[in-house]
Amino acid sequence: MSADFPAYSPSEEHELLRRTVRDLADAKIAPGAAEVDETADFPQEAHDALVQNDLHAVHIPEAYGGAGADALATVIVIEEVARACASSSLIPAVNKLGTVPLLLSGSEELKKRYLAPLARGEAMFSYALSEAEAGSDAASMRTRAVRDGDDYVLNGAKMWITNAGVSEYYTVMAVTDPEQGAKGISAFVVEKSDPGVSFGPKERKLGIKGSPTRQVILEDVRIPASRMVGAEGTGFKTALATLDHTRITIAAQALGIAQGALDYAIGYVKERRQFGRPVADFQGVQFMIADMAMKLEGARQLTYHAAIKSERAMLGERIPDLTFISSACKCLASDVAMEITTDAVQLLGGYGYTRDFPVERMMRDAKITQIYEGTNQIQRVVMSRQLLK
Ligand code: CAA
Ligand code: FAD
Repeated sequence: MSADFPAYSPSEEHELLRRTVRDLADAKIAPGAAEVDETADFPQEAHDALVQNDLHAVHIPEAYGGAGADALATVIVIEEVARACASSSLIPAVNKLGTVPLLLSGSEELKKRYLAPLARGEAMFSYALSEAEAGSDAASMRTRAVRDGDDYVLNGAKMWITNAGVSEYYTVMAVTDPEQGAKGISAFVVEKSDPGVSFGPKERKLGIKGSPTRQVILEDVRIPASRMVGAEGTGFKTALATLDHTRITIAAQALGIAQGALDYAIGYVKERRQFGRPVADFQGVQFMIADMAMKLEGARQLTYHAAIKSERAMLGERIPDLTFISSACKCLASDVAMEITTDAVQLLGGYGYTRDFPVERMMRDAKITQIYEGTNQIQRVVMSRQLLK
């Protein structure tokens, strides 16, 4: 009977992976998280630890030198890194975001050339869709790519690009035919070393401060036409199809941040004494902890379910509700992370409001998960369109 039930809970191997990543994150990433937040420096030590343990881009298929981990394993890696340091979790998450366009639509030549250095830990990838005037309405982008012989010449500026400046490679969406709207957008791989590529200053942010967010400025950047990802005019579809897989990784980041805050709050309320007893003895505190854990587990189940669907889609199965479920888990997990981290600050009282304790950082870090890879209003646009079409 059990064989007829397609299980979507993690296997023993997934749980072993979780323990491995948690041990690594506790030992090598968590100790630097407060300093990364304070200095807003890129978490190089975390990056190096992830690379040494082959955890920086686990999703890269074995055919391109990667670990070939499935989407659920990738979620678990991101979740466990985010539990320690949200900024560091954007290393595996954005390495996936930048490369899914190639995995979905790229030529064999592009995959071989660009995925192998990432798998070896010699390069990172970023994803450049947004512009200053084209965020939620991503199809209104202005960055142009004009064909010139065997090349394309790119001009424009992509805004808010995570890990910009650190990444060697960028999947850039640009307009190849302004008359065609979304169908006139194409995707390209741009290298940091391409002449004409530069970066804006680091944005000064509320959270995820160790993850650099910068403009990618393209001035007469000439690249061979072979660097186009998929056919001309398919870049916007590839960009959105990518998000169907990677909104799940933002859900994973949100789960990890929330778990970190919940774990810390549980430890604290058992130690902190008021009225002659641990504050954990008060039912008002107990009910908050119960609600936090309940919401987190609900969001986790939806996210893991979405990850399984993502993996099946990557293996070639048609999953009609992938767009809905990836939006749903990102929206739910990020809203839950905001609630849980806010409650964690509450449970630490005045101490929670200070930088001497990690939960205020987690609350600031959680906020971005409601905004990027599409704001949670846009997730509701995506979900309702799927339901009403
Ligand atoms: N997969 C494949 N194709 C899709 C698709 C999907 N999930 N969703 C839509 N499409 C297709 C449509 O079918 C349509 O093609 P046809 O005309 O041939 O049917 C085309 O793409 C355009 O779709 P829409 O008409 O629905 O496009 P729209 O302009 O109305 O925009 C939107 C839709 C949902 C609002 C979209 O613009 C969106 O998701 N906006 C949010 C942007 C976003 O998420 N940015 C994330 C940036 S990355 C980031 O933030 C990084 C980070 O976190 C670290
Ligand atoms: P706007 O689109 O201007 O939205 C403003 C408000 O209006 C929001 O509340 C929004 O929800 C609401 N709104 C807009 N349209 C609608 C609608 N139709 N219905 C209801 N409400 C609506 N982008 C990348 O391409 N690559 C990256 O690596 C990347 N990393 C990022 C990292 C950070 C730290 C940040 C802050 C952003 C990043 N982004 C990245 C961009 C991110 O995806 C956008 O900020 C996001 O999609 C929202 O766009 P916007 O900021 O222009 O907001």
